[in-house]
Amino acid sequence: MTEGLDIVIVGATGNLARRKLFPALYDLQAQGLLPERGSIVGLARSPFNDGQLRGLAREAAQKAARIDWDDEVWEEVAQRLSFVRLSDEGFAELRAQLHQPERLVYLAIPPGAFGETVRALAAEGLVQGTRLLIEKPFGRDLSSACALDAELREVLDESQIFRIDHYLGKETVQNILVFRFGNSVFERVWNRDAIGHIEITVAETQGVDGRGYFYEEVGALRDVVQNHLLQVLSLLTMEPPASFDAEAVRDEKVKLLKAVRPLDPARVVRGQYARGRVDGREVPGYRDEENVAPDSDVETFVAMRVAIENWRWAGVPIYLRAGKRLPLHATEIEIAFKDVPAPFFEATDVSELAPNTLTLCIQPEEEITFSFLAKVPGPEISVKPVTMNFSYDSSFAAEPAEAYERLIKDAIEGDRTLFVRADSVERAWQIVQPALDRPPPLRLYESGSWGPQESEELIAPLRWHLR
Ligand code: BG6
Repeated sequence: MTEGLDIVIVGATGNLARRKLFPALYDLQAQGLLPERGSIVGLARSPFNDGQLRGLAREAAQKAARIDWDDEVWEEVAQRLSFVRLSDEGFAELRAQLHQPERLVYLAIPPGAFGETVRALAAEGLVQGTRLLIEKPFGRDLSSACALDAELREVLDESQIFRIDHYLGKETVQNILVFRFGNSVFERVWNRDAIGHIEITVAETQGVDGRGYFYEEVGALRDVVQNHLLQVLSLLTMEPPASFDAEAVRDEKVKLLKAVRPLDPARVVRGQYARGRVDGREVPGYRDEENVAPDSDVETFVAMRVAIENWRWAGVPIYLRAGKRLPLHATEIEIAFKDVPAPFFEATDVSELAPNTLTLCIQPEEEITFSFLAKVPGPEISVKPVTMNFSYDSSFAAEPAEAYERLIKDAIEGDRTLFVRADSVERAWQIVQPALDRPPPLRLYESGSWGPQESEELIAPLRWHLR
């Protein structure tokens, strides 16, 4: 464990700090995983004082912490926590409160403010020893991402920048690598010879959840595809790394992304939710949400076909889909193996000849299911798909860490494996850029449906496995 390290949260009264960061600090403290020494300083524009920040942080942590609440654990965090008002003198005041040679600086603020914050840190001599944690989306397209990177790099070295994609902090996403490279039976068939197609779905029942202002600037392509979906895809399809060192893993991920052909807008479907029913209640359409333009063209759903042009994957169609206000909250990867030759089972209804599938459920269920054909008992050769299942819950007693808890712990330890490197971010923007430049028409879909009909046509004659 790191002995001394200060932790600075810029934007300490905001949504992210409340929903994720303070609960994660509590959970880390409860496991003895916070540095032994060091201050925790929250900065914000609001006129708070130490006591008020402690009150807000306590309430936030108590509401969302994963580990059972214990006042003594929280006191350990609270006694280190202080507030500094973001103002011209704020960074000088911050400097006075930091006593360790190294620090994490978490920018829980809009990306537009990253540059000035980093310059203010530099002006106070707070560059050396800083590890900067920043949120996605990193930029809003290729050129702004490059510009932002250049701005940060004027002051910081790449090794100091920890770009967060919280999907990489999910236990089930990390398990993709173990599943693939720890089980030779699967790695042998993980290629175009055996796999017919791949689907990845990120489905949410929630809408923009009060984040209309943010979402109007972003939309599903920037919010989920450029980062979460492409990161998951790269872990799923990359070559085995030479080792599990941070750079070896990140090299392979980028190599894979370089083989992904930039999106063809003709193979992208964009949708936006209209009013409808989700989880048994009426919900408004996106354009009726707070801080959303009544004629907004922003997509809340996107489906696409992508191609990976390398020896392993050439010719394997890959379908990605993400949407809000869908019927289920589920992130799932479906690997469909090639069909069996139909004439083999003459006596069987062809519709029963489902190909083998492997479903990696990332959330809310954390499980892996393999589906294969079995003979139905009886005098005839008749078959039906059956399943084998592994579930985290029933196989392991330990509850997995929450994504932010895991990522903050790694940043404390200086482990960059689960953070996104600049070249990976830029390549991901290159992949989505054609669909940002030439957006396909927006299709409305009813809330509570599986998105626009065009997304079914995109995958036809196949069918999305979650429907
Ligand atoms: C965030 C997006 O990065 O991921 C949100 O900004 C989205 O719009 C969220 O709801 C989904 O994350 P999770 O962990 O709930 O799947």
